[in-house]
This record gives sequence, C-alpha cells and structure tokens, in this order.
Amino acid sequence: MSVNKTKTPTKHLITAALPYANGPLHIGHLAGAYLTADIYARYQRLAGNDVVFVCGSDEHGAAITIRAKKEGITPQEIVDKYDAQIKNTFDRLGVSFDIYHRTSDALHHQTAQDFFLNLEAKGEFETKTSEQYYDAEYNQFLADRYITGTCPKCANDNAYGDQCEKCGSTLSPLELINPKSTLSGNTPVLRETTHWYFSLDKHTDWLRDWIERGEVNGVQLHEPSAWKNHVLGQCRSWLGAGDDDKLLPRAITRDLDWGIKVPLKEAEGKVLYVWFDAPIGYISATKALGIEQYQDENWWKTYWQNPECELVHFIGKDNIVFHCIIFPAMLHAHGDYILPKNVPANQFVNLEGDKISTSRNWAVWAHEYLDDFAELPNAADSLRYAMIRNMPEQKDTDFTWVGFREANDSELVGTLANSVNRVVTLINKYYGGVVPIFGNGIDAAQFYDSTKTCVDNIEKNIKSYNFREALSEMLNISRLIDGTLQTHEPWKLYKKDHESQLIKDVLYVCLQAVGALSVVSQPFLPKVSEKLRHILALSELENGDWAILVEKLSNNENIIPSGHKINAPEHLFVRIDERLIQNQIEKLQNTKTAAAVPTDDSTTTYEAAKPIITFDDFGKMDLRTGVILTAEKVKKADKLLHLTIDLGYETRTVVSGIAQHYAPEAVIGQQVVLLANLAPRMLKGIESNGMILMAENAEGKLVFVAPSEAGFGGGFTVR
Ligand code: 2FM
Ligand code: ZN
Repeated sequence: MSVNKTKTPTKHLITAALPYANGPLHIGHLAGAYLTADIYARYQRLAGNDVVFVCGSDEHGAAITIRAKKEGITPQEIVDKYDAQIKNTFDRLGVSFDIYHRTSDALHHQTAQDFFLNLEAKGEFETKTSEQYYDAEYNQFLADRYITGTCPKCANDNAYGDQCEKCGSTLSPLELINPKSTLSGNTPVLRETTHWYFSLDKHTDWLRDWIERGEVNGVQLHEPSAWKNHVLGQCRSWLGAGDDDKLLPRAITRDLDWGIKVPLKEAEGKVLYVWFDAPIGYISATKALGIEQYQDENWWKTYWQNPECELVHFIGKDNIVFHCIIFPAMLHAHGDYILPKNVPANQFVNLEGDKISTSRNWAVWAHEYLDDFAELPNAADSLRYAMIRNMPEQKDTDFTWVGFREANDSELVGTLANSVNRVVTLINKYYGGVVPIFGNGIDAAQFYDSTKTCVDNIEKNIKSYNFREALSEMLNISRLIDGTLQTHEPWKLYKKDHESQLIKDVLYVCLQAVGALSVVSQPFLPKVSEKLRHILALSELENGDWAILVEKLSNNENIIPSGHKINAPEHLFVRIDERLIQNQIEKLQNTKTAAAVPTDDSTTTYEAAKPIITFDDFGKMDLRTGVILTAEKVKKADKLLHLTIDLGYETRTVVSGIAQHYAPEAVIGQQVVLLANLAPRMLKGIESNGMILMAENAEGKLVFVAPSEAGFGGGFTVR
C-alpha cells in the first residue's frame, strides 16, 4: 500500500486463482495465473498505486478428498502438507502476494456461509429434489470427481462427473455412460437428494450486457475491447446469443462431509460446492490481510466495495466460466460488490509437445526445478524469464528444455547480463567504481529518450496484459547499452587515452540505463533486480520508484549521479550446463517409458490410399491460418459446431463436424488451418465458408492441424 508522490494512487485488487492444495505447483500453473498476476502487481506498486494482491490454497472439493484417499491420509493432512509446500514454492519463486490465505480457515468458512445466507435471503436460490448417483458401499452421493464414466460427447472412458478433460465438455454425472464410483469402483445406484441451485437463468441478460458492452444498468464499468478475444469467446458460448438463451440454474451444494457446511438446518450433512466457496476465498483473504495489518475488520470493504477500485482476476482458461459468469453473478446478486474490470486468462502451456498432466506425471514441478538448478545464481528468475517469454497469452504454447537453455544462454546471459557486466566492469576498472563526471560528449537527451521509449513500451504492454512484449522491450534497454558501447568502443579509446572524456560520457549514460533496468526488471526478474540494486549501490526499490524513473528520464535527469560509488560486478546469470538439461530430458523420457502401453500393430487398419493428385491440384487450395473466435453447437445436429474464425483480413463463418470431439468452449482461441476457397455449403441452414483441416490421432480423436509458431489471427498463406 503505497502513495505515489505525483498523482492520486489508483486502488488495485489483484487476485490469482487459488491453487488446489492437492499437489505441488508445476510450470503450467506459473504460466497460467501466477507470473502474470505477479508482474502486474509488482508493476502497479512500482507505479505508485495502491495494490492488494491476494491468493491462497483451495482446500475443499473432491480434488482434495480423492488425493487424501490415494495417499492414505486425512483431507486435513493433505491440505496442511500441500498448502505449506505451495506457499514455500511461491516464496522461492518471488511471487509477491500480500497474503496467501487458506479456504480451510475459520474466517473463510464464516465469510462463505454469510455470503450464502445473503443470497438465500434475497431469493437467489431454488431447491430441487432429484435422483443422483450414490455409492452404497461408501454411503456417499457421487458428484464431480467421485464418479467417472464414458463421455457422451467424445467417448473418452475417463470423463469425470463434472467435466471431460479430453473434449472440455461440462458434464453432469447423469450424462456419463457406464458410470463408476471412484471410491469403490462399483456401478452406482440412484437415490433421491435435495440441493440448492443458484438461479443463474435470472442473471443471463445483464451478464450478456456486461460482457458485450461492459455496461450494467447504464453504467460503463469496463471496455470490452480490452478483454482477450478467447475470454470473450468462451463467455459468449456460455451465454448464447439469442434473447431466449438462458443460463441453467447451477447446483451449489453437495452431499459430502469435507467442505463448508451449508448454514441451514434443513441442509444437514451438506456442504457448499467448492466452486461456490473458492472465489469467496479472495474476499476472505483480503479480510484476513486487513485484520493482520491494521486490526481493521472493515478494511477489505475499501477495496471490494469501492467502485473506484480495479479488480482483476488472473486465471488459466479452464477457470473462465467461474470468474466471468458465475462469480460475477454471485457478486452482483449480493449487490455490495464491484465486478472485475478484466479477467486476462491465459491459455495452456504444453511440455515438450504434450499436454501437462499431473496424473501422468508429465510436468516440470517448480520445487524440483528450484532444487535441480540450485547451482544457477538466479535459478528462479531464469525460469520466470523462460515462462514469461513463452507465455500462452493468446494461444497454447510449448515449453521445451532446449528452448529454456537457449533463452537463458542467449538472452539472459548474452544480452541482459552481458550489457550490465560490461558497464559495471569498465567503471570499476577505469575509475575504481566511482561514476565519472559527464562532459556532454554524447547526446544524453537522446539516450534518455530512447531509454524512456523502452520504459513506456514496457508499461503500456503490462497495462494491457501483453507480458511477452513487455519483457522483450526490457531487453531492448540492454540492446541500447550494447549498441552505444559498440559504437564508441571505450576499451579501444582507453588504450590510447586513459583520460578520454568520451569514455566517461559513454559509461556515464550507459550506467543510467543500467539504473533504469534495475527498476523495470523488477516485475519480471525480482531477484535480479535486487542484485542489480546492490551492484549499483542503490537503495532497495520502493513503491512509486517506476513513476520517479519516468519523471527523471522525461526531464533528462540522471538516475545515478557522478561521484556515486558502485560495487563490483557479480554474476546475474550463467550459461546452463548441458548435463543439467539432459537430466531433465531423461527424467521426462523415463516418465514416458513407464507410462507406455505396448501396442499391437497388427490390429491397426489403414484406409486405402486415394489416387495421386498433381501439384497443380494441390496449388488450387488456398490454405490459411486463423483463430476460432466463437463456437456454438448447431441446433438439432449432434456433430456440428458453428464457428467464426479470424483470418486476420476477415472473419469467416464455418460449420465444422467436430462437436463430438470438442466442446464449444474448448476450441475458442484455437489456431486452425482453413481451406479457405472451398465452395460455400449450407449446413442446417448456416452457410459454411471453408473447411478446417483436422487429423485423427492414435486414439481416433480428431486433432487440430495447427502451426504452433504462427501469430494470433495471422491470416498468412500456408506453403
Ligand atoms: O482450477 C483450480 O485450480 C481451482 N482451484 C481454482 C480456484 S480459483 C478461485 F476461484 F478460487
Ligand atoms: Zn469428452
């Protein structure tokens, strides 16, 4: 909580998805919600704004109890173990939460129950009695992950009661084919039970206005064009476009004994659905912070109930519906709360070409990385850099160990560390570490101006959640230093004249840029920024220092004065030994080998080959890349999805036969290759203009043929 010296600080309430306390953090978590949120929070603090950055462990739901059963310990032991581990990993990675809370905390239970009672009193719930699956051996109703079966949409045999992870469909247990209890493995029986449903149908219309126009009751709350396309696309596919399309009421209670008790006499034995209580965890965390820091039980309201405060939720794409539809509906129904200004969800990061999977152990676990790479001087920042550089902001990306090493060696060592090292070493060598007096031998104003352009670009990109671009602008400051050194080659001048004023001037301006780097690198590489401040003998960064830097650069004022004594150079980053990378690759290979199931090739049948075509035939096809903007089921057609595709130069309507393989919300943001000059066809009354190229994988599932390197909405021709 800082005060900007030059302008009124804006209040920022920043949340990062509460991770389930059922396992360690992996790189997918980092790229999804936590590094984005941390960069944003750190920047806003440095800009002098008033920031509250909250997170905590999500400790309820089947994810926890199933893990407890697997490890043979109690749910409480599971959450205690992983909450401590996750918290420690966030710390080691430099994620700067103001508070990391827990949903098992009594304050959270109370907050969630009060929220429930408030909505109950407002008539926001309806109760329904219906038959649900029940495991007679365990005396338990089977919701969510307690039940598996075959997905009715894509035939995946391991779909859960709430979701099929293969096609992304949202399911209910009753839709599963051949349902099985995950507790006993038995086929469940049907039994009657009563549940509380949140009447989301009543909220559809205002939610649609809010998503489409950023308006609620005629008040402009945000600018929808600032939201990511894939986030808007998912919201649209949930909300539907027609006035008659309504959201369905959603059950918010469960028959379980682990969770927050439903605070009603008639709901004995029932708990709140984990997705009802988890987002309220953001509120309880803020309450806990106010009590810890200011002993003020109402402090949290100055954020959550203040229309001047900007609430931003950082999440991964699998959490979009909860943060853009259900939680906003809860906040609005309550009436006292602000709505998020933006929900800049990221897509997924894959690992070595394959989806990250906790159950298959196909992951890079953050705590293992930190242990395995402990010999690097700033291992956490090397990982942060690699993840930010490859962040899945608009589309899924891929993490590879070879790519990680290349980025470290060429960009962190070769560009960033090298630029700093050259300046600091030469000032130490020529002037005993004392910053020389500037003699106007080079155009300082122009140098400050170029530095400021980089700083402004970093700022602009962070504010619009383009963290990859912001990071690359940060490296441009190093390139500016390198370019200036290369132009004047002070080491050559020094051989001729130890007292050359030009050397002093060159090193003086370059050192100012290193000073700028020590500030603007902090959101991305906090440990390195701290080390830079130490090398430069500058005080620790304080809130508002970014704003001061910008002011100084604008006024051509120095950041580090002549006569100031800096310290000796230190390693910021070092090249990564190939052995370390090989070990990681082997680790993954062992995982694959262990999971491999022998296949019998003799049972595989192949379709007969089609007749040869000429190159001219091939050349007639106009293949374009594009990105799916919206996706909806075609009414009365099981197999068809109605898609709109951004080709860069135009938006196309295409009807595609992939509905049994993908849920609409799972394909939004997906890159595709489109046969763009296929004659239009009418399918179920919709004109389809082109065909998406798909391939069948080994399990018979249709997968997208998508160029991983093409940009968002590139619209270029495939050759
Ligand atoms: O997907 C998850 O990991 C959830 N635990 C995220 C919860 S976010 C929030 F609502 F708490
Ligand atoms: Zn499925």
